[in-house]
Amino acid sequence: MNFLSTSGFDLEQLIESALRFKSGDDQPKPLAGKSVALVFFNPSLRTRASMQVGIYELGGHAVVLEPGGTSWTLEHREGAVMDADKTEHVAEFVRVLERYCVAIGVRTFAALKNWNEERTDPVLNAFARYASVPIINLESAMHHPCQSLADMMTIREKLGSGPKRVVLTWAWHPKALPMAVPNSFALAAAQMGHDLVIAHPPDYELDDELIETTREFSSVEVTNDIDAAFDGADVIYAKSWGAKQFYGETERDIAERTQYRDKWIVNEEKMSRTNDGIFMHCLPVRRNVIVTDGVIDSPASAVIDEAENRLHVQKAVMAQLI
Ligand code: CP
Repeated sequence: MNFLSTSGFDLEQLIESALRFKSGDDQPKPLAGKSVALVFFNPSLRTRASMQVGIYELGGHAVVLEPGGTSWTLEHREGAVMDADKTEHVAEFVRVLERYCVAIGVRTFAALKNWNEERTDPVLNAFARYASVPIINLESAMHHPCQSLADMMTIREKLGSGPKRVVLTWAWHPKALPMAVPNSFALAAAQMGHDLVIAHPPDYELDDELIETTREFSSVEVTNDIDAAFDGADVIYAKSWGAKQFYGETERDIAERTQYRDKWIVNEEKMSRTNDGIFMHCLPVRRNVIVTDGVIDSPASAVIDEAENRLHVQKAVMAQLI
């Protein structure tokens, strides 16, 4: 079984397992004598460190590879004529690695060049196609399920179980960023039954199919009114992302978003209108761009607990899959 998104997983059960890992009640070593590969096409602090530590704490060993850095450049397209810059195909990479490792984690961001192609998660799915061991998504073009599971665990810890008014808000950022985190947060929040509000400026819609899926689980309101969205919120989850229609033209996205810089930031005034809401962000975060110092340094900020919970949920995922 793969962990490519939270779809099809019992999140309550995974969170219960993660809470037992966190409390120290569960200290099993299902990875004793085993190795897990972690393949990073992109930079990372939290994912890389928490996966390495989690694998160690489960009794195993992490093999970290960076295609194009510490391992060969990788081609993922089926039938590719490899006469350019790619040295090895995912077909061989995966089938060799699984002779050594019992699971493979993959981080592969969107390049923000071709929406229709990237929304299908082609690199992650190439790994899944060739693998016979579990593939764990460590953030792909469209999903970051380890992050959203940690987010749901954090909401549960801070606010208890049961539905909450959870606001996912777009924030201004100088660059166009992928939408894996907001997609996965929206999906997981809906799976948990939260009342989800997604606030973004016009033109910054999430994937239509993803929104349809969230509505199968819970009530989802989409709004362009950031001020109204904050009223009475229990959770404010901030994230910036690029507009689908500007994939391949990120300079147009950057020009378009200039008008939103002053308005689309999480600050003390907006937080004062919430229901004593908590502030969440996956990190890394640009201070005084996405969120003011006053909010991220306040008692309402859950960002460090969120990052810690990555460790516990990933142990729960690995213990279930392997
Ligand atoms: N939130 C998150 O995935 O952090 P990193 O990019 O540092 O791994």
